[in-house]
Amino acid sequence: MASFGIDDIELATTHYALDLEALANARGVDPAKFELGLGQTRMGVPAPDEDAVTMAATAAARLLERTGTEGIRQLLFATETGVDQSKSGGMFVHGLLGLPSNMRVAEIKQACYAGTVALQTAISSLVREPDAKVLVVMSDIARYELDSSGEPTQGAAAVAMLVTANPRLVEIEAETGMYSADVNDFWRPNDSTTAIVDGALSLTAYLDALMGSWDDYRANGGHDIAEIDRFLYHQPFTKMARKGHRKLVQHAGGEVGEEVLESSFTYNRVLGNSYGASIYSALAALLHHEDDLAGKRIGFYSYGSGSIGEYFTGTVVPGYAEHVHVEPIQTELATRESIDFDRYVELHETVLPSGTDVETERVTTAPFRFSGIRGGARQYERTA
Ligand code: HMG
Repeated sequence: MASFGIDDIELATTHYALDLEALANARGVDPAKFELGLGQTRMGVPAPDEDAVTMAATAAARLLERTGTEGIRQLLFATETGVDQSKSGGMFVHGLLGLPSNMRVAEIKQACYAGTVALQTAISSLVREPDAKVLVVMSDIARYELDSSGEPTQGAAAVAMLVTANPRLVEIEAETGMYSADVNDFWRPNDSTTAIVDGALSLTAYLDALMGSWDDYRANGGHDIAEIDRFLYHQPFTKMARKGHRKLVQHAGGEVGEEVLESSFTYNRVLGNSYGASIYSALAALLHHEDDLAGKRIGFYSYGSGSIGEYFTGTVVPGYAEHVHVEPIQTELATRESIDFDRYVELHETVLPSGTDVETERVTTAPFRFSGIRGGARQYERTA
């Protein structure tokens, strides 16, 4: 029987970055709190001509440059920072990338968990249509109010994945565990550009859903913790993965140390929270920084506030190392423009009115930009 999973993966982030040391100094906080207490050193900050669509298009374009578009039957766009209440962000990406018309395009939402819905939906659909391919894109910008407890956990990134039969990177195993509970730990009302969070409740909701989804995973025939070699967690800040891992090891009776998490932090530590993209940025970081993963089993804990957790596993395909491409994201991270605190505040306070005609300032060097609003409709352009 064919296996299904992730055949290729790419990332993209924002033009700007803010050092958390600068944020700590401006807020009168010990920088060690952000670096050690949260496990974060920088965060992505979008330029005025960037949004979830432009980052998604950039990540997907990098991937499609290698794979081409043949056989792609669906584009599933996972986001909680959608740009329209009706039109899918995926439809803008479809247009920007010039994808074929004979495909399904839709947007999926459930906080940071939506990317996993897209991945699992893609796999289910491939069982019926194994020769098809699905382009799954997760793209988010995490925004909290200025000077709030969530402020140092902002960030942004997009991940694009090609999901196919007989994938070249990671085969996703069939066993999965779920845990849903209606909790007001984190949400963003329709009229707000920033999320509202009950920080303490969000930590317990994350851990409760981890325990619940792990138990369901085991009840559904999932592997013993000793059979899992690497552990990926949703990383709102990288320290959260450590908290989750400690709790899981204690709960599942294993003896797995935290060193198996380290390489998965490489990107998220400097991207910040990218909501739905976060766990898949962690996957890319793992694949990019370890070269002996062939045959190893990876545990995935995907969490989305509100709340749901899903635990599932995948195995790394022998030969995967020939199909990972570290250069695009590492160049992008190395060339992000650092901004100071004042520019960060200025960008944060700028919210475009939706009903007007407006041109955005030309800043990003990414191949796609949000060029403004005309007749109430968002406009995008490809620049490279
Ligand atoms: P806080 O109250 O500012 O921080 O909020 P704290 O006082 O709890 O300190 C944080 C850590 O820093 C602690 O470590 C301190 O000890 C340490 P811990 O005890 O937890 O291990 N610390 C220091 N360490 C070194 N040197 C120092 C120092 N001072 C303190 N000088 C909070 C923290 C996470 C609540 C806040 O950042 C927040 O509200 N973040 C947003 C919510 C969030 O990320 N929640 C995570 C779970 S929910 C989730 O993941 C879903 C989400 O991604 C959304 C979605 O699903 O769409 C958010």
